[in-house]
Amino acid sequence: MVQLLVDELFTRLECSRLGTAKSHHSAFEIMKTQLLGILAAAMLASCANSKNEPAQTADVMPLLTDAEQKELYEQASALFPALPSTMPGSEADSPELIALGKNLYHDVRLSVNDKQSCNTCHNVDNGGAGVDNEPTSPGALGKRGGRNTPSALNAGFHFVQFWDGRAEDLEAQAKGPVVNPIEMGMESPKAVEAKLSGVESYKAQFAAAFPSDKRALSFNNVAKAIAAFERTLVSPSRYDKWISGDKNALTAQEQRGLHTFINAGCIACHSGSLFGGAMYQKLGLVNAYPSKDAGRYEATKDPADSLMFKVPSLRNVAVTWPYFHDGTVGTLKEAIRLMGWHQIGQKLSDKEVASIEIFLKSLTNEKVAAKHTTSIASK
Ligand code: HEC
Ligand code: HEC
Repeated sequence: MVQLLVDELFTRLECSRLGTAKSHHSAFEIMKTQLLGILAAAMLASCANSKNEPAQTADVMPLLTDAEQKELYEQASALFPALPSTMPGSEADSPELIALGKNLYHDVRLSVNDKQSCNTCHNVDNGGAGVDNEPTSPGALGKRGGRNTPSALNAGFHFVQFWDGRAEDLEAQAKGPVVNPIEMGMESPKAVEAKLSGVESYKAQFAAAFPSDKRALSFNNVAKAIAAFERTLVSPSRYDKWISGDKNALTAQEQRGLHTFINAGCIACHSGSLFGGAMYQKLGLVNAYPSKDAGRYEATKDPADSLMFKVPSLRNVAVTWPYFHDGTVGTLKEAIRLMGWHQIGQKLSDKEVASIEIFLKSLTNEKVAAKHTTSIASK
């Protein structure tokens, strides 16, 4: 039965991947074998367990035994390694470059009417989760775009940028919003250069950040500096302490939640240290999702990419509501429930949903969590 389930899931996954990521095929096979082993072990364990389960309250899943916790730790070490402490490409980022990028990221002068900075939509200050918690975000001129704003935290770890992957890295990404008419609305790269050239303090900052460039203040360098700042937005959580060996960093309920997350099959897509951000997948893989947005197809016009979206990272997900690319899903519980139905073809029980939610909350960075305690409690 386990074999059937895994085969079914992976046949669907593989069909939906054809033509998009062939080179990942062998990694995929390895994952399939791994997943099969894990599911089989989990089923066995839960059969063995059913005889002597501790008494359980109505709304939680039974806790894991010590042996199961140990096994979970080994699985998790292979599937979800700790978040690296630095981002790829950050080795050469000088303090001057990062400081300039931080200023630019927060500078409303990058928008046509001085109303909006990157930070307006992706608030990263004092524990901000890198989002604005809007379904879709109003641009500088008040018009809303069609997609929910993803977090800028940890974004540099993603394999591509945007829901549809149309920018290959942070640098390419940063050029988009500035000249996007419904975001920051600047007329052209030249207009950005002209405007920033009029800001006295930037002259020295650009020169210090790009010492070998004759023309330091350029649109390309604006993007480079912003990307360097974004590469500092590494946002680990208690999960990373746990997986790095601090056994008490996750509660028994959180470990149980991770077990539920793995067993439900979420790991087929939300894998790696980001719990996502590493592949495209079809939204509505098993049961269709009502989406007006065709995802990656909008960028490539390849019919094989229809409804393919980047699998989002689940880091800090508890505080980045509302959910999905269309921002229509208000709560994390509802997002988990919908994932079960649309992506795995399962009606997850309330207990399973609650268990997964408990785990996902442990992926919130502690500084971010501190800022959000009140708003979470009121949700
Ligand atoms: C008006 C709100 C708004 C502003 C201003 C804005 N963004 Fe975004 N950002 C978005 C939205 C919406 C998306 C997703 C768009 C898509 O996928 O098509 C996004 C996507 C991103 C991503 C990709 C994250 C991921 O998970 O794929 C990064 C990184 C990012 N923005 C950084 C920036 C930077 C840097 C700036 C300033 C130069 C900026 N944004 C300005 C709304 C905004
Ligand atoms: C077949 C691949 C696949 C599987 C399996 C899967 N997901 Fe997803 N998940 C996605 C994709 C793709 C999205 C982006 C959906 C969109 O376009 O809005 C997503 C989005 C999410 C989101 C919303 C994130 C955000 O920032 O908006 C959550 C939460 C989530 N998944 C949790 C889960 C959980 C929990 C499971 C297991 C029950 C699961 N997923 C199983 C592919 C998958």
